[in-house]
Amino acid sequence: MTAEGLERAEAPKLVTELPGPKAREVLERDERTTSPSLPRAYPFVPARGAGSVVEDVDGNVFLDVNAGIAVTSTGHCHPTVVEAIQRQAAELIHYSASDFYLPIYSELTGRLAEIAPMEGARSFLTNSGTEAVEAGIKLARWSTGRQYVIAFYGSFHGRSYGSVSLTASKAAYRAGFGPLLPGVLHAYYGDGRDMPVPPGADAEGFPTLEHIEGFLMKKIVAPEEVAAIVVEPVMGKMWAVEHFGVEPDILLSGKGIASGMPLGAMIANDSVMTWTKGTHGSTYGGNPLSCAAAIATLDVIEQEGLLENAAKVGDLVMNGLRDVQSRHNAIREVRGLGLMIGIELPDHDTAAAVERGAFDRGLLMLGCGEASIRMSPALVFREDQARVALELFEDALADTRNVTS
Ligand SMILES: Cc1ncc(COP(=O)(O)O)c(C=O)c1O
Repeated sequence: MTAEGLERAEAPKLVTELPGPKAREVLERDERTTSPSLPRAYPFVPARGAGSVVEDVDGNVFLDVNAGIAVTSTGHCHPTVVEAIQRQAAELIHYSASDFYLPIYSELTGRLAEIAPMEGARSFLTNSGTEAVEAGIKLARWSTGRQYVIAFYGSFHGRSYGSVSLTASKAAYRAGFGPLLPGVLHAYYGDGRDMPVPPGADAEGFPTLEHIEGFLMKKIVAPEEVAAIVVEPVMGKMWAVEHFGVEPDILLSGKGIASGMPLGAMIANDSVMTWTKGTHGSTYGGNPLSCAAAIATLDVIEQEGLLENAAKVGDLVMNGLRDVQSRHNAIREVRGLGLMIGIELPDHDTAAAVERGAFDRGLLMLGCGEASIRMSPALVFREDQARVALELFEDALADTRNVTS
């Protein structure tokens, strides 16, 4: 199938058993030579992709609502992004922007300053989400002269030492690695599923502000020693905070910012980003190829109206999932914004069975948290593809509904 044919496909096409023969060869080699820490979900071995469709090494075609784990925002291999990377690769693959003045670096930080939800935005570019979080923790401590950082139970911020100290979504991320970063405290947030009930909780959920102001800041830490409160809001507009009328001092971005090239950004207003020459840097952060991909990504999002598409197709998927929920009481909750959607199931085994059942039908989904499964397709996800994804998901769910009973 051509790349255009792949991009146009609305339904999966499976031509071998899963995993197929070539996939099994890769799995066998991988099993012998890669780090056993990698949290592989199911035996999917991708070879090429276009839009929201991916073909594996055996020629099986899958509908991808993972988007490379919420990364390929403009779809797999968007021609504008591919062209920008190829052009940049032919001109200059690397020069460290920490030590010299790479033009494409400030071209991108200039674009980010135009669209950032704060005045006077400056950016520090990184290679990953976790490095953006590390940079944010360092800047918050440096610019305030304070030590403590408050994060929330249930959140995920990454796996390097600072960010994993903020992460509180699974004990496995921390087990065996302590002691972690000192000075990190956690507060209750949202409806607190799977969490102990703190003082003052009621059926509506946890009173987050009361917990921070009335408990943590009275009993554990003085407010004047808190450098930052780190929140992980859900995307659906250009910046997730725009849903909540918040103007952040520091905004962290990763994942889809460069359509799959490694890039993160720590964006702060210039009254906060006052740290001085040499206080922080990175050899590869904001490398030319990733910057080229990010600029092309921003162009495509604007020119193709992808935020509007995410809102429209996101509504279709949310409504479709609520219909599925009305037929299957295994679905406890459907939640999300735009095209970042979580489906809460009764328990982990059911979520894992639905994830595998979807894969066996050619739909790539991924579990998240204890008992949820997510759909986070590319912003180019189409309505025809969304309808097929809903059918396949319902079919997988119907097949696995008895896992826990
Ligand atoms: C909200 C959030 N923060 C931080 C990270 C860490 O990003 P990375 O894996 O690029 O280090 C992730 C990755 O899943 C994330 O979802």
